[in-house]
Amino acid sequence: MNVLRLRWRGLILAVVVCLTYQLFLLASDEPTLTKDQIKQFLLTAKVIKSVQSKKGITNPWRLTLTDGTLTHDGSFQSVEEHKQSVEFASGTELNFVDSYKYNIAAYQLAEMLGIDDMLPVYVERKWKGETGSLSWWLPVKMDEVERHRQNLTPPDADAWNNQMYKIRVFDQLVSDTDTNLTNVLIGEDWKIWRVDFSRAFRLQGKVKSPEDLVRCDRHLLEKLKALDGNELQERTKHYLNKMEVKALMQRRDKIVERFQKLIAEKGENEVLY
Ligand SMILES: Nc1ncnc2c1ncn2[C@@H]1O[C@H](COP(=O)(O)OP(=O)(O)OP(=O)(O)O)[C@@H](O)[C@H]1O
Ligand SMILES: [Mg+2]
Repeated sequence: MNVLRLRWRGLILAVVVCLTYQLFLLASDEPTLTKDQIKQFLLTAKVIKSVQSKKGITNPWRLTLTDGTLTHDGSFQSVEEHKQSVEFASGTELNFVDSYKYNIAAYQLAEMLGIDDMLPVYVERKWKGETGSLSWWLPVKMDEVERHRQNLTPPDADAWNNQMYKIRVFDQLVSDTDTNLTNVLIGEDWKIWRVDFSRAFRLQGKVKSPEDLVRCDRHLLEKLKALDGNELQERTKHYLNKMEVKALMQRRDKIVERFQKLIAEKGENEVLY
């Protein structure tokens, strides 16, 4: 009888330890993983479940992956569409491209600019015979559509705006034509992430909405100035062609110019933070 009770106790203890560990993982969202470990996991973990998303246009897959120790989800996007022209409500777009490759390029670029914490880690992965981008699933509370719908205001306006200004700079730099609010995700403590760049990296050297550029993080501006086209080309060689990199560098020049002009007009403290 006593032996049985002890066994039960042992079993209950084991279950409690297991649950606590899982809760810890959930609450902390696996903070112990480095970026390289996340990349490695996404590149090699086994897919054990797949569900196709209902949000978005091309319905990427939400995959559950495991490496035996850790189980985590990812978003798999394999869109690769090239068209001479596409009609949108906003007009005709020539040389239309919708490509998973741009997700990976955007992440590489964000790393070079030191703002990769605003994107999920994206890697290239093959699944069921298709090559696509696979991103680390983020601990999202809601997206910007939902925030607007519920009419919620972030408690710390400065912290929120400072994140948004960075996203605006990045959106203009990558020339995203699909900057819709489902691609802006909100996590714990009003942390903002930007996902989905499959319609970015257009060939126009012009900045589409310069009026969006009002303030800039100091560190980001320095990184923008230092951005090297050759290094970017090298790091994105499987994902961006020379023309896409050239256009991006032209936009970079215009963004830096615009901020320098704003600084000259308004003073550094009004523009940089
Ligand atoms: N890494 C991620 N973590 C959490 N949620 C994600 C992640 N990636 C995508 N999502 C969710 O899935 C939705 C659809 O994904 P995504 O935006 O990449 O595809 P899409 O909108 O279909 O692509 P496109 O508009 O280029 O056709 C996103 O709006 C977001 O809500
Ligand atoms: Mg999207």
